[in-house]
Amino acid sequence: MEKTRWYKDRVFYQIWPRSFLDGDGDGVGDLLGVYEKLDYIQSLGCDGIWFSPLYPSPGVDCGYDISDYMDIDAMYGGMEAFRKVLDGAHARGMKVIMDLVVNHTSDEHEWFQKSRRRIEPYTDYYIWRPQGLGGKLPNNWDSMFEGKAWQWDELRREYYLHLFAVKQPDLNMDNPLVRQEVKRIMRFWLDLGVDGFREDVITFISKRDGLPNDYFMPASRGIAHYNHGPRVHQYLEEFKHDALDGHDTFTIGEAPLVAPKKALDYIDERHGQLDTMIQFQCMNADCFLIDYAALPFSARRLKRAFDLWQYKLDGKAWNMLYLENHDHPRVISRYGSEKYRVESGKMLACSYLFQKGTPFVYQGQEIGMTNWRPKKASDYEDVQTRWHYEHMLAKVLPDDVRLKWCHRASRDSARTPMQWSAEKNAGFTTGTPWFHVNDNYREVNVAAQENDPNSLLRFYRDAIMIRKRLRVIRDGDYVDHTPLSGSLYVYSRTLGDEKLLVVCSFVERPVHFRAPQGFELSRGELLLANYGSGLSKNGFITKPYECRVYHFT
Ligand code: GLC
Repeated sequence: MEKTRWYKDRVFYQIWPRSFLDGDGDGVGDLLGVYEKLDYIQSLGCDGIWFSPLYPSPGVDCGYDISDYMDIDAMYGGMEAFRKVLDGAHARGMKVIMDLVVNHTSDEHEWFQKSRRRIEPYTDYYIWRPQGLGGKLPNNWDSMFEGKAWQWDELRREYYLHLFAVKQPDLNMDNPLVRQEVKRIMRFWLDLGVDGFREDVITFISKRDGLPNDYFMPASRGIAHYNHGPRVHQYLEEFKHDALDGHDTFTIGEAPLVAPKKALDYIDERHGQLDTMIQFQCMNADCFLIDYAALPFSARRLKRAFDLWQYKLDGKAWNMLYLENHDHPRVISRYGSEKYRVESGKMLACSYLFQKGTPFVYQGQEIGMTNWRPKKASDYEDVQTRWHYEHMLAKVLPDDVRLKWCHRASRDSARTPMQWSAEKNAGFTTGTPWFHVNDNYREVNVAAQENDPNSLLRFYRDAIMIRKRLRVIRDGDYVDHTPLSGSLYVYSRTLGDEKLLVVCSFVERPVHFRAPQGFELSRGELLLANYGSGLSKNGFITKPYECRVYHFT
């Protein structure tokens, strides 16, 4: 089937279902809630939805531990509710993509339960190894979430590999039967009408032969031997050929530790196996590789990441643009300012929505939700946060410092219930919410912002509308005019005679901004701004976190 690359014209909204909206009063977000809000999502200008996992799952990693790939969890309303949402989205001209989590399953998946018992054909569905001499583990790899990457199984009397939580055993992708299953899953959802997949840690699916010890990367030892492993492209090629090619899909690969050069092996439009990638470099402007290795925020580092991906993919591959998802704390609390929540939220929107690529907005980002700060560590739900609090950080830090660290880095900040109104539980549920609501919901919520012409929500709507209207934003050339500035990010997009100039200040203090050569600001139309339009001498002195978007024709 011809690939139209329809995703280049779209803006996606990510739903993390358990915290979006509870439609049946049991305290957990569900598809009834999503159905109610399809018009809201459409009103933002978003015409695509990415669903984080909706499948049956014990919930150890909030759905990323799947126990049945061909069903929808009853908690979310089951298959019938999903069909209704899918039809409702399609009727509104929206596309829907699903999370595809096939590096690992839940240990409660039937395949694993049979594999433990050596029931054929499941015996080699997972990565099993005997105990080494003297009780040694099969190798020295670490898991991302819970200590060593090996867990002893009493029933089978072998270790299994888990790169994430203990209850998330890694599948053995070298087994052709496992690849058949993956293709079956893909076809199942595509035949049902979904429009593509966001493929979870897909660069991890092929492990180096012999699973050798790793002597680098202290906290995620092993990654050199499974990230971009030896047969990853072969397997992705197979999935593409046997499952995807018959459909006009959009596929996004999640890729930790990837730079553009490597990414092109996956997403080059001439020979790639995927359409775009979730890269992590734009998430590393206030940390070293992971959110817990905190560093002061550096606008320069953020711009370096933006520039790298904009320049290196240009004309070859397509970018996925984002500043938030369910795996990172809220961006205003990281790269902006809670004091200037609305102003910096608008500036951050401008900093990425007008780049070249397909933008994603994560639920709550459009109203400027900020980090949640529980008073006690036991309030955290997330397996990764708990592990860091109890183990990694425990070795060196006192309790209160560890808690503050979690306030800064925990994924749970992005997972508190969506704040719909100032009513009880932020309008998220009429029951008891499964998770804590951020205390600021009375001030920060959708209902309040619908009525306020200067709200962040209205700003997102305007910005997305502008993006949709102007071809220069889809296709124009990108230039960063201030790559060395530690405070200003000034980029332009150019398509023939049409130009867009975006000015973003990442600081509270005033900064002198002069328009780059070739841009006469008084001749441009100011399309969007978080303050006013005053000019002097083809520039202005910025207000805290000021942003402006000029259009020239
Ligand atoms: C991805 C998901 C994350 C999950 C992990 C393991 O990084 O985005 O939420 O915990 O994979 O599946």
